[in-house]
Amino acid sequence: SPCEATPSEVCPETLIATLPTREGWSTPLILYKKFWFRSAALRSLILAPAKFVPRHDDTILATHPKSGTTWLKALAFTVANRHRYTFADHPLLTRIPQDVVPFLEITPGGLDYVEKMPSPRLISTHCPFSVLPPGISSSGCRIVYLCREPKDTFVSRWHFERSMCKADPIGINDAFNLFYEGCTPYGPFWNHNLEYWKESLMRPKEVMFVRYEEIFSDPLKVVRELASFLGVPFTEDEVQGGVVDQVVRFCSIESLRNLDVNKTGGIEHAASNVIIDHSSFFRKGKVGDWVNHMGKDMAEKLDRLVEDKFKGSGLEI
Ligand code: A3P
Repeated sequence: SPCEATPSEVCPETLIATLPTREGWSTPLILYKKFWFRSAALRSLILAPAKFVPRHDDTILATHPKSGTTWLKALAFTVANRHRYTFADHPLLTRIPQDVVPFLEITPGGLDYVEKMPSPRLISTHCPFSVLPPGISSSGCRIVYLCREPKDTFVSRWHFERSMCKADPIGINDAFNLFYEGCTPYGPFWNHNLEYWKESLMRPKEVMFVRYEEIFSDPLKVVRELASFLGVPFTEDEVQGGVVDQVVRFCSIESLRNLDVNKTGGIEHAASNVIIDHSSFFRKGKVGDWVNHMGKDMAEKLDRLVEDKFKGSGLEI
């Protein structure tokens, strides 16, 4: 059928036509199950429960956008495949991390591509936990969730959006108002974080919760923990031989952004005709860059909101 759904399945187009939408970002966002999505991602996520079959040995890298997805993809891929490739013939020398670990909801080949990947699969998603296909929790597969300080996430979102829409770039005040109201792709930011946080408390062996700032301040420690979580711990020999160190350096923003593949070329954005420069995924990669873009009032306002939303959950970012 034209909508790819069998008669017993929900046709995404029919459902999407009934949902609230909001303008403001480079493409309209659609509200579905209390989160905002761009149309292409939502279409896949509506089809995913019927078309995506989770496997027990899948690893899902989950992030709210602009939390360091590109970094996590590079690190997890390099750790998991370190016995297959050397640093001289590594896929990340010629392919952007976005491409090496496909997104469940916005991969060019769609869900069929993900379905055909050989096991064990490394898949990424921006999808909130409550919108993921339900079979994921019961399959026993691993989830690594990476979060990031909200003001840095917001500033990164704003820059990225400007690179997607150069003709009419959104101003920081408009972007802030949308973010503050929870209206960002895959937002609200706080509910995205909270859902995975709660899941990691309930199922710590299956859901690892990591902070961007933690990797930034102690990458060796986090990469070792990541390897253990993925079931491929570093041996003492590897540690002594400096392999963890090599992984960290290989995946650093400084080395990735200097590769030709990440300096040139682009990815076609799934929900618009825009080509996103690969270089847009490697902007600054710092902690606390928000001070260069947000005024004190704006910063405090977001801090207060997120603090309020996280209250009682034990989550602090
Ligand atoms: P900034 O815009 O603050 O620089 P995502 O990958 O989820 O889209 O997030 C993008 C953010 O992660 C950008 O943040 C980008 O610079 C940063 N980033 C990308 N690769 C990185 C790396 N290897 N190390 C640290 N940060 C990285």
